[in-house]
Order: sequence, then structure tokens, then C-alpha cells
Amino acid sequence: MPDRIAKDGITLNDCVHITTMKKFLQMLFNKKPAADASIHPTPKRTPYELIGGEAPTRLLANRFYDIMASDPHAAELYAIHPLPLDVIREKFYEFLSGWLGGPQLFEEKYGHPRLRMRHMPFPVTPQLRDQWMYCMNKALDEVVHDALLRAGLKEALGQLASHMINRER
Ligand code: HEM
Repeated sequence: MPDRIAKDGITLNDCVHITTMKKFLQMLFNKKPAADASIHPTPKRTPYELIGGEAPTRLLANRFYDIMASDPHAAELYAIHPLPLDVIREKFYEFLSGWLGGPQLFEEKYGHPRLRMRHMPFPVTPQLRDQWMYCMNKALDEVVHDALLRAGLKEALGQLASHMINRER
């Protein structure tokens, strides 16, 4: 049985011809029309819909910060975050909502994300990037049940997290 993402959504079988993760991500995020629509059908659903909408998106943001605040592997990452985490939990949910193709909640409230610029006051080193991904990968393992969607989100968020690095050490 194919690993079904959603009823009428894309399945592993649909994606059998997709040879690279890059192509998968382009398809998932609909950034480029598929080169060959017969073998790469562009999904009609956004990643926000595929993940299950508001509740799982909120859960992903909250689990990310729960893990960050409790797992010793993320101690340095936790240490640079202003407390309490309530505000950032909400902001991160709002960001993810828009980033996944759902309601653009962050942009409506705060304007264009300009994520790299917003991180400049914080020393984002490769070590902190790895801790961030450690927490995010764990949260994705808990919240996103479909293996293909989960792998695509890990890859896309990994690229975004690397882009945040603004100091070498
Ligand atoms: C790569 C390592 C990263 C580090 C060390 C880091 C750290 C931080 C810190 C310290 C804050 C401020 C929290 C606060 O003001 O309460 C922040 C804010 C934020 N981060 Fe990150 N972050 C990283 C990656 C990311 C990534 C990949 C995303 C998106 C997927 C993201 C999304 C956000 C958002 C939306 C905010 C709120 C910005 C605002 O206050 O306007 N961060 N981050």
C-alpha cells in the first residue's frame, strides 16, 4: 500500500518518478510548475492542508518549543531564547501557517517575515542550527505521520535553518 498523504492527495506511488528531493520540494511547495505534468502532477493541496490544517500546525510549533525547553541536547538554543516562550510559540505558529501555504497570519500582523534579518540580534551558529533542527526533526516525527511529507518538510526547514546562520562560532 502506498504511504497515503491525504485522501485524493499525492502518494508515494504518484511520486515514484521523482528522482530528487529538490523536485519533490518544488512540487510540494508549488513554486514551479512540474516540467512534465504527466509524471509530476502538481498537487492541488498546500502543505498546510496536507499536514491537517490549524491544529497540527499549532501542535508542531508547540512541540518544537516543548522539546527545546526540556531536552539537554538543545540547552544552548534554549539559553538564547527570551522567556517566557508564550509569545514565540504563537509567532512561530503564525509563521508556519503562512510558510506552509495556509493563512498568512504572521505577515498580516508583523509584515514580511524577513527571517534572516529578524535573527540578526541572535548569534545563530552552525551548532545552534543543528540544535534547532534536532528539535524540529523530533517535533516533525511526532506530528507528521506521512513519511514523504515529513521528509520533504525536514529538507525544506533544514535549508531555511542553514540560511539563518550569521556567525561561524
Ligand atoms: C537556525 C537556528 C535558529 C535559531 C538559533 C533561532 C533563534 C531564534 C530566537 C532566539 C528568536 C527570538 C525569540 C523571541 O524573541 O522570543 C527567534 C525568533 C523567530 N524564529 Fe528563529 N531561530 C532559528 C531558526 C529559525 C527557523 C528555521 C525559523 C523558521 C522556520 C525560525 C522562525 C522564527 C520566527 C518566526 C521568529 C519570530 C521572529 C520575530 O520575533 O519577529 N527560526 N529565533
